[in-house]
Amino acid sequence: MPFTDYKTALVTGASTGIGAVVVERLAKQGLDVHAVARNADRLDDLARRTGCTPHAVDITDTAALTELVRGIEGGVDVLVNNAGVSRSGNILTADEFAIDEQVAVNVQAVLHLVRLVMPGMVERDLGHIVNISSIAAVYNFGGNTIYHATKAAVHTLSRQLRVDGYGRRIRVTEVCPGRVETEIFGRLLGDMEEAQRLYYDGYESLKPEDIADAIEYAIGSPRHVNIGHLEIMPTFQVPGGLNFERRAD
Ligand SMILES: NC(=O)c1ccc[n+]([C@@H]2O[C@H](COP(=O)([O-])OP(=O)(O)OC[C@H]3O[C@@H](n4cnc5c(N)ncnc54)[C@H](OP(=O)(O)O)[C@@H]3O)[C@@H](O)[C@H]2O)c1
Repeated sequence: MPFTDYKTALVTGASTGIGAVVVERLAKQGLDVHAVARNADRLDDLARRTGCTPHAVDITDTAALTELVRGIEGGVDVLVNNAGVSRSGNILTADEFAIDEQVAVNVQAVLHLVRLVMPGMVERDLGHIVNISSIAAVYNFGGNTIYHATKAAVHTLSRQLRVDGYGRRIRVTEVCPGRVETEIFGRLLGDMEEAQRLYYDGYESLKPEDIADAIEYAIGSPRHVNIGHLEIMPTFQVPGGLNFERRAD
């Protein structure tokens, strides 16, 4: 029902993975979808398939983001902050690039987009912001410390936005996925085949469609319902665990 309330959507990270499927779904629901990512060829292909408007933009470029949002007539009704990157390393091993890129894509761009889009939602008394965080936002496990920190920021921001939009018909949904079969690990390793072998072969991972189903559900819920936080994991993936190093000396 609320899909008919909305006219325009903006989806980041739209060239592949979760974002591309979300664009397809929102376009099918009749929204005018602006699809954002760097890879122009993939976006053009998506535009041919879905009718979306492609924007080949690096979301770490704040000036380009500003121009893009200002050019969308009537404002953005549905913002899906989906673009994200993961790089190897905990704080003892991560390099400068790992910190800078993850902060810029996973947090800085999300903050700027919300800053650029949400005032219009307040003015129109209408809007839905969907932030894709991760189970890394809410659980601690070894590996990518910067990723955890940036996704925890998205988690807190998602709750805070409800406070900022208090009294207006603005809904905010955080989606926290476990492992989804996309390019994210291949980009991390710089080797798609190796990532497929290490992270996906033999596992029943989530598919981008599973996450898109949840987003459609949240946006399609009745106007008075805000689906705030959705944790979605593969059945065979479980968070938790406790480490306790024995130091006999
Ligand atoms: N896959 C998982 O297991 C998993 C689990 C939990 C959470 N997530 C989260 O889900 C979201 C989607 O990830 P995914 O798994 O679908 O990843 P993916 O397949 O690697 O896709 C990432 C998308 O982000 C875009 N992107 C990256 N850097 C960008 C930049 N600087 N400017 C513009 N676009 C940029 C990429 O497009 P271009 O390269 O064309 O720019 C691509 O469209 C991310 O926020 C991720 O952290 C994923």
